Amino acid sequence: MSINAKGANVNQTRGLIDRYRRFLPVSEATPIVSLGEGNTPLIYAAKLSARIGGGCEVFIKNEGMNPSGSFKDRGMTVAVSKSMENHARALICASTGNTSASAAAYAAKAGIPCAVILPAGKIASGKLLQAFVHGAKIVAIEGNFDDALLMVRQLAERGDFVVVNSINPDRIAGQKTAAFEVVDVLGDAPDFHFLPLGNAGNISAYWAGYREYQASGKSTKLPAMIGIQAAGAAPVFHNRVIENPQTIATAIRIGNPASWQQARSAIDESRGAVKIASDEEILDSQKWLAQNEGIFAEPASAASIAGLLQLKEVPNKSRIVCTVTGHGLKDPDAQRIGKIEATPPKIDNVLRALGF
Ligand code: F0G
Repeated sequence: MSINAKGANVNQTRGLIDRYRRFLPVSEATPIVSLGEGNTPLIYAAKLSARIGGGCEVFIKNEGMNPSGSFKDRGMTVAVSKSMENHARALICASTGNTSASAAAYAAKAGIPCAVILPAGKIASGKLLQAFVHGAKIVAIEGNFDDALLMVRQLAERGDFVVVNSINPDRIAGQKTAAFEVVDVLGDAPDFHFLPLGNAGNISAYWAGYREYQASGKSTKLPAMIGIQAAGAAPVFHNRVIENPQTIATAIRIGNPASWQQARSAIDESRGAVKIASDEEILDSQKWLAQNEGIFAEPASAASIAGLLQLKEVPNKSRIVCTVTGHGLKDPDAQRIGKIEATPPKIDNVLRALGF
């Protein structure tokens, strides 16, 4: 059975492998496992731009619009396609939630079993639901993400599984396409790129993408890469392993990132920075973005915005891109629903309830 339609008039949605094939490690022999990922909106954020001032333009790259609701799908389409080409028997990943949701979805599409190892009690409910519904085999361990990734590395040595965490280079290859898309829309690279930093794969992938696009003549400059960590889970910022990372932004609750060195290089080579945001700043930014720009991001994603809002001096007329990495609906418990009283279905009562 082929997973893609071969019929003459079938106009399938093109995924990112089709669009950026020549930059990716695929060949004619690779069976493409795609859910129509990538090509996410780059939205001009007028109110955020006004808050930064100095004629700066801020754009949001909304990766919550990917098929499973996060940027992980970019890496997963490449990693799962390559796994199928190499006749893998099963996939495995450790996750703070989004990788497992994405791996489970692409494994279902490919028809291959998927195992996910999660830190017990620390996965946002929407993400856990996704892994269940897509039929992944789920193991919750008494430990954090770093412990889960160690388990996965050890299990992979047995040869039964292909690891689809970002330590798999095919994941990074897929994720670098987000930088291509930014350049394709803006006409050149931005001056600054803000994104949350957890296991540090994504910042490394964006940097690889920006460099590759510049080398191929598609852009003239490179952005400063700014990674934002949660204050209670900030190993790169403090330059030491955090044994017991804590943050409301569970997606980036990581104390010993796998791509630490690559992230450090990206930040240093780009003359960027690593910053921290408190849980309060993260939640405030999440709400502000939802209420002023109409974008509902999950807490970890709002860290990009929290980091941007800390900037004291931005050069005038800078072009700034913030990646929103995952959809807010994945973590419905992060913000509170206000109290709503039931009202009789009469105009007077409804107007009074509305405060008119
Ligand atoms: N934002 C979200 C929503 C994430 O899920 C993650 C990572 C990050 C940011 C950080 O990206 O790890 O490449 O630095 N989530 C991983 C997971 C760890 O298991 O879903 P990173």
